[in-house]
Amino acid sequence: MERGQAGLKSMIPNSKFRKNMFIFDHEDQMLKFMLNKWEDISREGIERRGCFTAGLSGGRTPIIFYQRLAEWDSKPSWERTQFFLVDERFVSFADKDSNYRMLKETLFGKIPIPQENIHPIPTEKTSLETSAREYEEDLRRFFKVSKGQYPTFDLILLGIGEDGHTASLFPGSEALSERSHLAAAVVLDEMRHHRITLTLPVINHAEHVIFFVRGENKAFALKKIIGGDDLSLPASMVQPRSGDLLFVIDREASSQLSG
Ligand code: 6PG
Repeated sequence: MERGQAGLKSMIPNSKFRKNMFIFDHEDQMLKFMLNKWEDISREGIERRGCFTAGLSGGRTPIIFYQRLAEWDSKPSWERTQFFLVDERFVSFADKDSNYRMLKETLFGKIPIPQENIHPIPTEKTSLETSAREYEEDLRRFFKVSKGQYPTFDLILLGIGEDGHTASLFPGSEALSERSHLAAAVVLDEMRHHRITLTLPVINHAEHVIFFVRGENKAFALKKIIGGDDLSLPASMVQPRSGDLLFVIDREASSQLSG
C-alpha cells in the first residue's frame, strides 16, 4: 500500500485482472482523482475511436462527482461523449427516483452535449420487458453489435449497495445469469421500483470499470467484495475480461479492510 498525493493506493493481490484501490481521506482529493481519471479515459476513447462511451449509475453516491464533472469546461470532449445509463428505475423521467432525472439535474443539463449523445433507458409508455428490449436495441445500434456480441464501453461507473448489489443486479437475481441480452428487466418491489439494468457481460466487457463508494454503511459489503469472500455478491461478479477495475473509496467505506 503506498500513499500518494491522491490517497492510499493498493494493488489488490490474487486477482485474475488488473484491480486497484484508492482510499481517500478528503472528498476534494477523491473528486479531483475521479475527474483526472475521467479526463484520461475520455481522451483515450476519443483518440482511439473518435468518441468516449460512458455508462453511468444512479443512486446518491455519485451525485457529488456528477456535479464536479459538470464544471469540467471541455466542449470538444462533451461533443464526442456518448452517455448511457447503467440502470434505471421503471418510473417516469419526472419521478424523484428516476436516475435520468438525477443525471439531467446534476450533469446532462449543465454541459454543452448534444441531446442525441444521451441514451436514456425508455421507461415511459412501455412495459418493463419492452423497455429492456428497446434499450438493448439502442445499445446494439450504437455499438454495432449483433446477437452474441457485447458492446465495449470505455468506462462504466458503478456504485455498491449495502447488500452487495451493483447496477440493478441484486443478490439471487435471475438477471445475474443473463448472458445473451445486453439489458434485463428486474422485478423488485414498490419501494425500490422495478428496474432495467445492463447485464454482467456488458459490464465485464468495458475497458475501465470504476466502483465509486463512500460511507461507513458500505464498509462490510466492500470488505467481502474486495477480499473475494463472497463471490455470490453481484459486485463480486464484476470481473472485467480484459479491462481494469478500480475501487475509488473514502476512508469510511474502507474501515473494514485489513491493513
Ligand atoms: C441505482 C444504482 C445502484 C446504486 C447502489 C448504491 O439505480 O440505485 O445504480 O446500483 O449504485 O444502489 O446506491 P447509493 O449510491 O444511493 O448508496
